[in-house]
Amino acid sequence: MTLYLEGQTAIVTGGMRGIGLGIAKRLHASGAQVIIWDLNVDKWDASAAGFEPAHRQAVDVASLPSVEQAFAHAVEIFGRVDILVNNAGINGPVVPSWEYPVEAWDQVIAVDLNGVFYCCRTAIPHMRQNGYGRIVNVASMAGKDGVQYISAYSAAKAGVIAFTKAAAKELAQDGVILNCIAPAMAETALMDEMTPEHIAASKAKIPMGRFLQIEEIANMVNWIAGPECSFTTGFVFDLSGGRATY
Ligand SMILES: NC(=O)c1ccc[n+]([C@@H]2O[C@H](COP(=O)([O-])OP(=O)(O)OC[C@H]3O[C@@H](n4cnc5c(N)ncnc54)[C@H](O)[C@@H]3O)[C@@H](O)[C@H]2O)c1
Repeated sequence: MTLYLEGQTAIVTGGMRGIGLGIAKRLHASGAQVIIWDLNVDKWDASAAGFEPAHRQAVDVASLPSVEQAFAHAVEIFGRVDILVNNAGINGPVVPSWEYPVEAWDQVIAVDLNGVFYCCRTAIPHMRQNGYGRIVNVASMAGKDGVQYISAYSAAKAGVIAFTKAAAKELAQDGVILNCIAPAMAETALMDEMTPEHIAASKAKIPMGRFLQIEEIANMVNWIAGPECSFTTGFVFDLSGGRATY
């Protein structure tokens, strides 16, 4: 039996831990050759991760030259890239918007919004040329709701959603499909940047009364990143445990 993503090459940004690692593992299990991009890719524990990616590359998604070099390298090694999962992201501080440090604001926008744009801008011409591509951008429920005290993160994720919709329309006839996901809170290292009150308030908003599991995100991304997702583009797939109202 052919695996769902057999013969395909996938880049997962921020794939060294957390949600990105879970997505990378799932795409690998589906037969994809997975390339992990992250700030630091030196320490890889295959037995802890449960798999070995095809390649790991140090990339700062907030730097266009870094992204362009890494993408050219991936094409050089694997010939083509079919799937791009823009997962790398940071939370930033949890403070009122009028006290939000300007440098922290710039950094959150640089990684969470500009990073998605840089990776898409770099990969799309290659995918258009191939007449095939799947891009999954990791947004957040915060991008739909606007969450208090994380205004930069909320604004960046809302930007990711709107960017996805805009670019998806541009690519609708090119075989390149772009969607994003909007997860509620999952227990990852991202929580280290949050206050206990913020975490408790986020959990209280989820009608299912529990945090999201990384495997639940990975399973959804796996389907969106493959050929069966063929007539849905520019869409926001929620993983909200009943929280999303639109
Ligand atoms: N954890 C949650 O509750 C949650 C909810 C909704 C959305 N998200 C989103 O999911 C994604 C992954 O989050 P996570 O919880 O796994 O976080 P995490 O902090 O565990 O992992 C993020 C990864 O991204 C990498 N990264 C950060 N900046 C980078 C950069 N400039 N270039 C390359 N890599 C970079 C980190 O090194 C890390 O490996 C993020 O986009 C986040 O906003 C998370």
